[in-house]
Amino acid sequence: MVKLSTLLFLAIMPLSSYCFEPGFQKNRDTLLLYTPHPKPAPRINGPMVYGCRPGNPFLYRIPCQGERPIRFSAEGLPDGLKLDPASGIITGTSPLKGDYNIVIKAKNPKGTSTRKFKIAVGDKLALTPPMGWNHWYAHYNRITDKMIREAADEMISSGMADVGYQYVNIDDCWMNAPKSNDSLRVGPLRDKQENIIPNKHFPDMKNLTDYIHSMGLKAGIYTSPGPLTCGGFAGSYQHEEQDARQFAAWGFDFLKYDWCSYGDIIKNDTSIASYQKPYRQMGNLLKSQDRDIVFNLCQYGMSEVWKWGGEVGGQCWRTSGDLGFELDKIFDVAIKNSKIRQYSKPGEWNDPDYIQIGWIGTANKWGNTELSLMPAAKQYAYMSLWSLLAAPLIYSGDMSKLDEFTLNVLCNPEVIDVNQDQLGESGFVIEKSKECFIMVKNLADGSLAIGLFNRGKEATEVICDWSDLHLSGKQSVRDLWRQKELGIYKNSFTAQVLAQGVVMVKISKP
Ligand code: GLA
Repeated sequence: MVKLSTLLFLAIMPLSSYCFEPGFQKNRDTLLLYTPHPKPAPRINGPMVYGCRPGNPFLYRIPCQGERPIRFSAEGLPDGLKLDPASGIITGTSPLKGDYNIVIKAKNPKGTSTRKFKIAVGDKLALTPPMGWNHWYAHYNRITDKMIREAADEMISSGMADVGYQYVNIDDCWMNAPKSNDSLRVGPLRDKQENIIPNKHFPDMKNLTDYIHSMGLKAGIYTSPGPLTCGGFAGSYQHEEQDARQFAAWGFDFLKYDWCSYGDIIKNDTSIASYQKPYRQMGNLLKSQDRDIVFNLCQYGMSEVWKWGGEVGGQCWRTSGDLGFELDKIFDVAIKNSKIRQYSKPGEWNDPDYIQIGWIGTANKWGNTELSLMPAAKQYAYMSLWSLLAAPLIYSGDMSKLDEFTLNVLCNPEVIDVNQDQLGESGFVIEKSKECFIMVKNLADGSLAIGLFNRGKEATEVICDWSDLHLSGKQSVRDLWRQKELGIYKNSFTAQVLAQGVVMVKISKP
């Protein structure tokens, strides 16, 4: 006999064409779409503050949803910067040190959006957590120039850039290796002048970054302080200065510096100074280049890197090993990161690693991508945790296979606003029970972003008491995922939270 639940399921199925998309898997609840469709009127997104260094090339594509064509304008843009009204891309040379308060405007026949945007010219970069994409968990040692260009194209066409994603980052395996099963990746590691040589899958790095920049996006690259990278490709050991100069000359805007074989160099010297040395050196080298290059430390949290990552010139640092091996533990990883929240601040971010949803490969065998089997509710929880932690939002899945559900998780501008909030605080945790906790993030406007999380196997109620938050009286509550006012609440807010899921709200004075 056919079960009633099966009949109900079949009755619902035709309502959502999404279920029939390739890649739909039975145990993923793809009907769960929280983020409402963007409206046709413009909506400017992205950070409200942006750090850059004086005299360096400036590039910023205004993230904006709504039907194109959109006409952009800006009030208060300093001399040296120019806005292209059709694309919304600001280019030029960063002006003298100082804060420049701009008002950006975006207009189409359906409406107008304005947003304050402060350009803070000084020493600090990444005043809000970096957002972008990294190739690792999609393409591993299969990465090519073509795939990177396609990822940049997708970042625009999928709408990811319209909510703030901007870095297109190459990870390991773009160089030559002493040995590889792909002969196009084997060759001399350096030329006669000791310049690093990209492998045959990357015929022209400058041309590649020009392509990425032409869309208003930014480009990232990867190397190791050791002789070889983790994948066994050429590293920067004893060529640090030359490589930093080369990355700047190629036009890169972001460097991931991955420890890998550097352990062989320090041998048994486990002093903090020896852990810091290669990062301090590269940090100084990057600062001396004539472009802004965000420095991403990747050494898996050794020697409590969060305590000194900023001091050696880093804008963000991985707090632990590869999350690809720990995707079943995202709640624990997030809670661990919240315990070191005081080290996260504007320009200096704890990095619990990439957002791995959609089509991703297995971490251990560098396998081909498969659709993530993480329950839908948990994927929203994952994105909420990273937003509340003020973690870098770097997606690492196959951009050519982005589906409606994955984009729904990645592209909610109200959730991203929490991540990009200019106060730059990371969230703290209040345990509610063995299975439930809330994460609280103070926001610049005095309101609070709250995630009510349920790690359990059944849906349950989670209560957020105002006394937990040192609040009292009436508070207005807005559901951030659904972008909906829930009303005025007194004393507490209670939500029904799906198994492994989240309800994320903003609590503010009515
Ligand atoms: C390490 C890093 C990963 C990735 C690989 C590349 O494992 O932690 O993020 O960069 O190396 O080999």
